[in-house]
Amino acid sequence: MRNISLLFRSVVKSLILVSVLSMAAVSARAQDVKEGASLFKQKCTSCHAIDKDLVGPALKDISKRHEEEWLIKWIRNSQALVAAGDEQAVALFEGHNRVVMTPFPDLSDDNIKNILAYIDDASSAPAAGSNQAEGGNAAAQSDDVSNFMLFGLIAVIVIAFIVIVVLNRVIRTLERIILNKKVLIEEEEEEEEKGKDYLGTIKRLAKNKKLVFFFVLGLVVFLGSAGWKTLWNVGVHQGYKPVQPIKFSHQLHAGVNQIECQYCHSGAFKSKNASIPSANVCMNCHKYVTASEKYNGETSPEIQKIYNALDWDGQQYGPNQRPIQWVRIHNLPDFAYFNHSQHVSVAGIECQRCHGPIETMEEVYQYSPLTMKWCVNCHRETEVNHKDNAYYDQLIAAHEKLKEGDKITAASLGGLECGKCHY
Ligand code: HEC
Ligand code: HEC
Ligand code: HEC
Ligand code: HEC
Ligand code: HEC
Ligand code: HEC
Repeated sequence: MRNISLLFRSVVKSLILVSVLSMAAVSARAQDVKEGASLFKQKCTSCHAIDKDLVGPALKDISKRHEEEWLIKWIRNSQALVAAGDEQAVALFEGHNRVVMTPFPDLSDDNIKNILAYIDDASSAPAAGSNQAEGGNAAAQSDDVSNFMLFGLIAVIVIAFIVIVVLNRVIRTLERIILNKKVLIEEEEEEEEKGKDYLGTIKRLAKNKKLVFFFVLGLVVFLGSAGWKTLWNVGVHQGYKPVQPIKFSHQLHAGVNQIECQYCHSGAFKSKNASIPSANVCMNCHKYVTASEKYNGETSPEIQKIYNALDWDGQQYGPNQRPIQWVRIHNLPDFAYFNHSQHVSVAGIECQRCHGPIETMEEVYQYSPLTMKWCVNCHRETEVNHKDNAYYDQLIAAHEKLKEGDKITAASLGGLECGKCHY
């Protein structure tokens, strides 16, 4: 009896060890892919997607097309490879109309391996709806990782459960052999035969303390992590994509037709709000652009909606004008102050870092979580660009004065800037 119970204990111990180790392995790998995803988002999405061609070719299964060593050299400096006469590199460059891929000398080998790991990972994921596949994947990345861990955990628990049930059976059989009480065995067999009833089995399982312990542990871990995830995501609308009143495509306007963001969202460069363009801005082009070739000479029904909003009859505007009711996608709570011009014009941050690959979106969706953690993490990582900035010159001057023991005023810390007191 003791032996069996010792055996059982050591099996349980090694089981726990294995599950802890496998979880550690899972999180280590997830970390690489996560870092790769974030690098890919920052540096590559302006030209590449996983499963479609943008400026550069689709990168799906890239590791199957090239050696890792070659890829590292290429990504760090593709032009150096081309100049060195590498056959693959020259063919690629010529095949893409000699468009130069940006060199990335600051990426370490590990950085690049992580990016490749992310691309591999995204390649093996089932393709989501065409143009969203890329952005969507990246946006859902952090979710994927925690899902991955959650499922890993559940799998480990299920396996532990099965092992326990099997071991339990084995122990009982062995016990019976050791006891070797014929009568008892006969009775039990009889019982088992007539009573292959589930109730009996469940009752017996419920008496097994180890089993009950594992079951409760599993339940607690599962409910705990599900609850944790849900609570953290209250009020987070990442991926939010409402249906808009007009099928306006950024992919067509900002992507294919290369209209600058500034043309429609000039506010983003000079004020707090980026602003949505009024229908008059659309009319600069859509007075003439009717897309009628696609609709047998008729005006596109979507463009007709702009005309309806402005009461435009093809010659002049009527009196019944009303604004287009665009559904707002990004929405910070009122108590949080966010200023576009400070981030876009002063810090020089690209729209895409916060809004994702807008120029590939058929319909805009919320790319970033817009949580406080998101804002704060970026503030921790991003270096301030203080060159040629009167505000920082003023701060540095004030600092010098302080060092020399002079008095300074609130004005020398920027206290006269309108934006410090006014929204
Ligand atoms: C400025 C646009 C641009 C950026 C940014 C860019 N690429 Fe490229 N990439 C290209 C172009 C264009 C090509 C096609 C070859 C050429 O014309 O040089 C290419 C080719 C490639 C290839 C070879 C593809 C194949 O089918 O063999 C890989 C791999 C690649 N890029 C990876 C990356 C990675 C990783 C990043 C981000 C770190 C990145 N690229 C960023 C434009 C870009
Ligand atoms: C031709 C005009 C036009 C251009 C160019 C344009 N946009 Fe827009 N943008 C709109 C309109 C109209 C909407 C509202 C409808 C919608 O959400 O699709 C919008 C919505 C958005 C939104 C979502 C706003 C919300 O409701 O929260 C973002 C973010 C955005 N644009 C970013 C960009 C970026 C970045 C670029 C440049 C790459 C760009 N836009 C170029 C017209 C334009
Ligand atoms: C700088 C010029 C320009 C501006 C400004 C512009 N568009 Fe367009 N738009 C185009 C072009 C070019 C097309 C492609 C027409 C075609 O496919 O023949 C287009 C196509 C469209 C289509 C698709 C029509 C269809 O059925 O295929 C819609 C809808 C549309 N625009 C809405 C808008 C709205 C809404 C605005 C204002 C927020 C706007 N556009 C501003 C140039 C512009
Ligand atoms: C540092 C991150 C960041 C950058 C960079 C950024 N945005 Fe935004 N954007 C936001 C946030 C956060 C909101 C939500 C603001 C709110 O609800 O008050 C937003 C909202 C918007 C909206 C919705 C309407 C509005 O007036 O706020 C549009 C349109 C928009 N951004 C366009 C742009 C464009 C175009 C650029 C590039 C020129 C850009 N954004 C750059 C973070 C950013
Ligand atoms: C992509 C990185 C990035 C993200 C995301 C970001 N910020 Fe910033 N933010 C910056 C940088 C860089 C500066 C410094 C700009 C400067 O030089 O004034 C800054 C400055 C600010 C300032 C001014 C600080 C000061 O001392 O004057 C405020 C306020 C601010 N951000 C709010 C927000 C909020 C709110 C969010 C989230 C909704 C956010 N930021 C998201 C990069 C970011
Ligand atoms: C130190 C804080 C501070 C600064 C800096 C500041 N203001 Fe004001 N401003 C206020 C206060 C407080 C009020 C409201 C008091 C009042 O109406 O008399 C106000 C009122 C105003 C009003 C009148 C609003 C109304 O409805 O009557 C305008 C316009 C204005 N400010 C513009 C500016 C401009 C432009 C700048 C930058 C050159 C600026 N302010 C800088 C604090 C400031």
